[in-house]
Amino acid sequence: MLTNGNILRLYVCLVFLYLHTSFARGYLLEYDKAIIEDAQLKTHELIRKYGLKAEVHKVYTKDGFVLTAHRIPRPGGQPVLLLHGLEDSSATWVMMGPEQGLGYLLFERGYDVWMLNSRGNTYSRKHLRLHPFMSQFWDFSFHEVGIYDLTASIDYVLGKTNFKKLHYIGHSQGTTSFLALGSDRPAYMKKIKAMHALAPPAFFDNLGSPIAKALAPYARSIYTLLKIIGIHEIPVESEVWRRLIYQICSFAFRNTCTFLFFFVNGGNEAQLNVTMTPIIAAHAPAGSSAKSIAHYAQLYHSGGFYKYNYDTPGENRRRHGTFKAPEYNLTNVDCKMALYYAKNDLVVAVKDVQRLRSILPNVVHDELIAYEKFSHVDFVWAIDARSLLYESLLDVMQRVDNGEL
Ligand SMILES: *[C@@H]1O[C@H](CO)[C@@H](O)[C@H](O)[C@H]1NC(C)=O
Repeated sequence: MLTNGNILRLYVCLVFLYLHTSFARGYLLEYDKAIIEDAQLKTHELIRKYGLKAEVHKVYTKDGFVLTAHRIPRPGGQPVLLLHGLEDSSATWVMMGPEQGLGYLLFERGYDVWMLNSRGNTYSRKHLRLHPFMSQFWDFSFHEVGIYDLTASIDYVLGKTNFKKLHYIGHSQGTTSFLALGSDRPAYMKKIKAMHALAPPAFFDNLGSPIAKALAPYARSIYTLLKIIGIHEIPVESEVWRRLIYQICSFAFRNTCTFLFFFVNGGNEAQLNVTMTPIIAAHAPAGSSAKSIAHYAQLYHSGGFYKYNYDTPGENRRRHGTFKAPEYNLTNVDCKMALYYAKNDLVVAVKDVQRLRSILPNVVHDELIAYEKFSHVDFVWAIDARSLLYESLLDVMQRVDNGEL
């Protein structure tokens, strides 16, 4: 069918083909074979390549999504559930290799590691009734990830492991979803040993990213326009887009790409291992709904932490039971919480995390990364993430396990 969405997909395909043929071959040799291979492997294949067992689990949510969770199994070990940020995937926890990836470090310390993929990304594009071609498939933001994906995954992991509680580690949207879960389904907080929040976005009064601030006023119009022309996911058709980004970033315009990457994310060149660019470019962006981004834009405008505000009061009433979008009740998120944030994070500002901390009832650890230039993506990809962040995180987990925190 020649819908607008399909025409755009076709266009993206053609651009991809053009770039592929004209640039790729000439640059391919620049990179180490192992790096190119890692760029093409899926999360579980990466883990197996580096000598560990990896399992692939299917988690069924109450509203019909079929999610993929990757596990580095350690039967009998304390389970830890990890959730990536927006446009990211489970690969983020292992793609920097066995020396740096948090997934590996957790396994080494004796944890049973479960890495979830939230709805809509490369690994979680299945639904019992809906197809990604359908707009209903993409009718979600961090809220549904929290209410459906997290409840299902927490129950699944506890059921498989026979544990009563798990550790939870979220990066960016992986923490926003958790906050939505805790606010709306406080009973689940009893199942959490501790929540470790890496760069938690809830408030945006001090948003730093110039590009996000410039686009935010138009977010609603852009979202409406996209819906009209039939685009509900960003990037469109993630597999094609992933390859396109991969080609551009890895082979053709490396400097431009690095520049854009830093411009959007507020990254920091010193902590990005440029040798690994093809791996990052191949695994991210992993795809999500346009509504996810629209919901964040709403938070920026609202000045608070609110549920999604629909176009009409009637729709709000149908979805939320109230004419106005309600505010999340963060005081319900009463599990043990450890917060990690950074000064050079252009998405999650220090002041906004401090506001979050002042509301959360059970913060047991609060850490500003001791490195001025640490950025939003450095929490998962920084060269020195291990020494600057993970060692401390592992220490906090151990202290929780020993009953010291
Ligand atoms: C960057 O990645 C390459 C390939 O994995 C590795 O050999 C190198 O040591 C890394 N550089 C730094 C500074 O960590």
